[in-house]
Amino acid sequence: MCDDFAVEHGDPLLAVFVDEARTIGREGTRTPPEGGKVLAEFVERPEAPYHFTYGQFCSFSHRTLRSPPHDREFIVQAHVKMTARRSGAAALRLIAMSNTNGLDIAVIGATGAVGAVFLDVAAERDLPVGNLRLLATARSAGRELRYRDQTIAVRETTEEALDGADLVFCSATAAASRQWGPRIADAGGILIDDGSAFRMEPNVPLVVPEVNGEDVEWHEGIISIPNCTTTPLALVLHAMRTVAPLKRVTAATYQAVTGAGAAAAAELDAQLAAHGRGEDLPAPEQFPHQIALNVLPHVDAFEEDGYTREELKMRNETRKILHLADLPFSSTCARIPTMIGHAEAVHVEFSDQAPIGELRAALEAHEGIELMDDPAAAVYPTPLNTAGDDRTFVGRLRADPSVEHGAVFWCVTDNLRKGAATNAIQIAEELIRRGKL
Ligand SMILES: NC(=O)c1ccc[n+]([C@@H]2O[C@H](COP(=O)([O-])OP(=O)(O)OC[C@H]3O[C@@H](n4cnc5c(N)ncnc54)[C@H](OP(=O)(O)O)[C@@H]3O)[C@@H](O)[C@H]2O)c1
Repeated sequence: MCDDFAVEHGDPLLAVFVDEARTIGREGTRTPPEGGKVLAEFVERPEAPYHFTYGQFCSFSHRTLRSPPHDREFIVQAHVKMTARRSGAAALRLIAMSNTNGLDIAVIGATGAVGAVFLDVAAERDLPVGNLRLLATARSAGRELRYRDQTIAVRETTEEALDGADLVFCSATAAASRQWGPRIADAGGILIDDGSAFRMEPNVPLVVPEVNGEDVEWHEGIISIPNCTTTPLALVLHAMRTVAPLKRVTAATYQAVTGAGAAAAAELDAQLAAHGRGEDLPAPEQFPHQIALNVLPHVDAFEEDGYTREELKMRNETRKILHLADLPFSSTCARIPTMIGHAEAVHVEFSDQAPIGELRAALEAHEGIELMDDPAAAVYPTPLNTAGDDRTFVGRLRADPSVEHGAVFWCVTDNLRKGAATNAIQIAEELIRRGKL
């Protein structure tokens, strides 16, 4: 167990002495001889505030172990991180971060709607990918996907396929997250999870980096991203609360079919095509009713209180991200026949004056938000004019005269980007920026 450890992000690690360590599954790692302790020497900045005294579980990259101590040329730059394990013990890992040797990343759900966008966004944002494993179910094994100029064969998600990954992004199912999440964390890796499995766990940060990026600091190997309607809402509410405290929020959503996955998008396509040909529409399989030419006030399953799980996710996750455990909140989530981009009509009540001009200025100043608000010229965000963008677009901002201090707005976000892939990658960037990866 690491009982004493600290290091500054980016400190070059120039020598590692290993007397005792147990490798934790990385392909190509070696188990050093028994007996002794683990030391690291940061000769580049001897005054840096680092020290660690003991590591029971250590994973070293193949190259690090093979290189002799003090081999400056070989270990160009390495980062050290400590990951608290579920048991309370700690895993200490050394991750090579030289220009030629980025992170070992796995994507579970690479063949899905979010997975495809993830690969685009990772390339656009220059995620430091050293090795990339693309994983899904056995159904997709062998299918080839492109990442930058590489063609990578998809593999079935197994323990072996995940072995030694530094960072795992999971955009699959809650069951897959539950199956693999604890194992990834126990092995000293980090899971950034797109699904709902862990979002409300007290030891799992739920993060929108522009809102609560600091919450990545207390992760224990799993970090969740919010539901795709919650992320933009939390972002906008966070900007607005700089003007006045939030008192109550109500929202109605208009959610695109890709929010329900690739098969749901294919269902809308097939129904629209049949309609265009004047044929009978294929029976719904992904939704409880025909989605083409329709609106369904039904996203995810209904709970006993009459709300859907999607609506409860929105409420609970918004509260957790904003650190407002009691924020009064109610919503109605609807699925509409658009492909990409979730829209929301939101009413916010403040506990103090919140002039629209000040709210507008707060939104304009906030990272990740773009005002698109000139109703007289028919300028406002729609799914079609915002898809493919990472920002959350806000329009129709106006006062709500039905309450003492109220505002109403309309916002639209690409559910596959900021609602999923981009937010996940931003969390990885936040970890890197904070020296946690
Ligand atoms: N779509 C969105 O807007 C959005 C936004 C935020 C979060 N999310 C979350 O992201 C996740 C994926 O959504 P999606 O829309 O991309 O779904 P999707 O299009 O249905 O894709 C699901 C992916 O997961 C894989 N998969 C399914 N079961 C698996 C298992 N047991 N083990 C490993 N891989 C498995 C599938 O592989 P095969 O191709 O082999 O079946 C496919 O790659 C969900 O948890 C969803 O809640 C989605």
